[in-house]
Amino acid sequence: MRASLSHADLPDLQGVLVHGYGHLHTGCVLLCQVGTDRSKAARAHLGALGLTNVETARQAKGEAIEAARRKSFTNVAFTHTGLAALGVSPATLDSFPREFVEGMATDARGRLLGDVGPSHHDSWQWGGKTNPVHVALLLYAADASALAAHRAGVMGAAEAAGLRVVKMIETVTLPRRQEHFGFRDGIAQPVMKGSRDSSPYQGDEIAPGEILLGHQDEFGETSHVPGDNAFGRNGTYLVMRQLEQDVAGFWRFCRANAEDDADAIRLAAKMVGRWPSGAALARFPDKDPGPKEKVAHGVRAADDNAFQYSSDMAGARCPLGSHVRRSNPRDGFAQVPKDSLTMVARHRMIRRGRPYGQPLGGEAEPASYLKVLEDASRFGTDRGILFACFNASLERQFEFVQQQWCENPKLAGAVNGPDPLIGSQRAPCGPVGFTLQGKAGEPARRVLGIPRFVTVRGGAYLFLPSLRAVRGLGEG
Ligand code: HEM
Repeated sequence: MRASLSHADLPDLQGVLVHGYGHLHTGCVLLCQVGTDRSKAARAHLGALGLTNVETARQAKGEAIEAARRKSFTNVAFTHTGLAALGVSPATLDSFPREFVEGMATDARGRLLGDVGPSHHDSWQWGGKTNPVHVALLLYAADASALAAHRAGVMGAAEAAGLRVVKMIETVTLPRRQEHFGFRDGIAQPVMKGSRDSSPYQGDEIAPGEILLGHQDEFGETSHVPGDNAFGRNGTYLVMRQLEQDVAGFWRFCRANAEDDADAIRLAAKMVGRWPSGAALARFPDKDPGPKEKVAHGVRAADDNAFQYSSDMAGARCPLGSHVRRSNPRDGFAQVPKDSLTMVARHRMIRRGRPYGQPLGGEAEPASYLKVLEDASRFGTDRGILFACFNASLERQFEFVQQQWCENPKLAGAVNGPDPLIGSQRAPCGPVGFTLQGKAGEPARRVLGIPRFVTVRGGAYLFLPSLRAVRGLGEG
């Protein structure tokens, strides 16, 4: 039986692990370096940070109550070089897994993740070899003025304690919870069993040890704890990547390969695996039912996370190579649906990314993007997702999904092409493209010459410790 998180552990977890502060529409990440000879002061400051306590968030069933009571939150995470700069003992530093120790910005890892060409770490704005990051402070607030006040306080105190802010990324909330290409995001999400009173995620539970360190995972094994329990237990790994989205390029490509605007939106949806409203293609293969449609179990199609793929093994409804089907193939990966779910459960992650930058043309929706394409350059290009996800094993979860499923040009029936939305569009031979499997009796359609729509601008692997460990850091 799947293990459940004990309520006794909840007050020890940083809040972002249990909820994404969806009711707090503004946020910002401060990426910092620890000043030379300032490790003691920085440690004392970080240890004393007023971190979110999950227990208080849980009490706020109606999130509005919590928002009114407390308008801003901080969470904190560290890279391996950051822990070293803060003076964590060599024995503890050595106990971390290799991928965390090495970090994201290595040539080998770059090839594995598809961080090549313009996405190579040499070009990153932060997190590369020449501009490493030690500490990430994740700030959330109800509105712009609350964020400005919160940020000023956090930055002032951090700088006084010897932390230098090397990069600040302000995140935004787009209408209907969309990402910049114009699709509703943050719908499918596993929830750690026992971490919520009731699961809003339609039964999509995973064992806590898939995310948290020192807990039982899906195989009943205890996830590896770096250092001792006081330091490592109830921590997790945070993957942070600044992914710039070429929104104009994406929609230009879709329109060039479609008969009209509606057909362009259909092609885009086939590449994503959901419609702009969020409705899953697995249930609605031909037409976006819109934001009000309900599905069988009573939730809106736009929030649906209870669909599967085993009745669509050929990909006629949701293409096998689409982004959501690659990144979580659900029960459609192995011939036996139950085996598929067991296997896929080892490669899940909790996503907490948010968009940054202003939407193309000001209106965040596909129909208006298509209208401004001719003149798109005047709206700039600085927009994307500050991708963030949590997992207990960087290698088995994030890296596996990115490399084996998203970047793999031959994944389960996909014919020579990686993830059309986020992939690096490389393949060892032959033309690279995306396949839309046809309905029974219909031929498949190949769309070729997909450019790269997403460029990595920065990134880091971070350790997000328990609250107890953060306090311990302060106490030296
Ligand atoms: C600019 C980059 C990206 C964009 C625009 C994007 C967009 C989306 C959208 C629109 C969805 C559907 C909404 C949902 O199910 O919540 C989705 C789902 C998902 N994405 Fe991404 N994504 C990006 C990067 C990534 C990366 C780097 C990964 C991991 C390697 C990833 C993993 C996932 C997963 C696991 C799901 C949920 C699939 C499911 O459970 O059905 N995404 N993404």
